[in-house]
Amino acid sequence: MEELTFKGTPQLETQRLILRKLTIEDDKAVFEYGSDPEVPKYMTWNVHKSIDDARSFINFTLGRYERDEAGEWGIVLKENNKLIGSIGFAWCDMKNRRAEIGYALARPYWGRGIMTEAVNRVLKFAFEQMELNRIECCHFPANEGSGRVMQKVGMSFEGMARQKLFVKGQYWDIKQYAILRSDWLEKKERPLI
Ligand SMILES: CC(C)(COP(=O)(O)OP(=O)(O)OC[C@H]1O[C@@H](n2cnc3c(N)ncnc32)[C@H](O)[C@@H]1OP(=O)(O)O)[C@@H](O)C(=O)NCCC(=O)NCCS
Repeated sequence: MEELTFKGTPQLETQRLILRKLTIEDDKAVFEYGSDPEVPKYMTWNVHKSIDDARSFINFTLGRYERDEAGEWGIVLKENNKLIGSIGFAWCDMKNRRAEIGYALARPYWGRGIMTEAVNRVLKFAFEQMELNRIECCHFPANEGSGRVMQKVGMSFEGMARQKLFVKGQYWDIKQYAILRSDWLEKKERPLI
């Protein structure tokens, strides 16, 4: 199979959102949600203790842009032009045409369908522009809201990966979801994108 060479993180848009590259000027906005203990509660990263933690994340992401990896988008809400979260590929395996999506949103914006809208847009990009074949996503069992996002975008539950991660001092079982390009093409509804 021909190896794909898609590069970069182009700006994407949905009805309510702009997905754009992060810049170092986003440090305060990232710190605002990164310092809320409820946001990283079921994530592999720790709550931000100072703005330097937000800057480290952004600098890591800027490095990914420089290497032309399809990386991380900041989520900007059009109604107030505020950066309220981020979404991106935790890893991207171009040889096997698959990637894993991860995301986080500031708490005041939960429950409005925003992450479902953002994930749908990134899936469209992954399948239509990057020509990936399989997108994975996973969550800690207690994080059912995230599992619901995966279900709403058409991902299938593939099983519980036992003790998949060692995070914050302990092993965690992880619920594994994925969607194939063929599932995506069959999907009739494309809400808000
Ligand atoms: C998980 C997260 C991204 C969801 O974003 P969001 O914009 O609120 O998601 P949506 O509004 O699109 O959908 C959330 C769905 O989960 C449901 N939900 C929320 N909490 C739930 C819970 N405890 N149990 C079951 N369902 C829940 C909502 O009702 C909604 O489903 P519905 O549309 O059928 O009513 C957001 O809560 C977040 O950023 N959390 C912290 C970071 C995180 O955990 N990231 C994911 C790591 S895997």
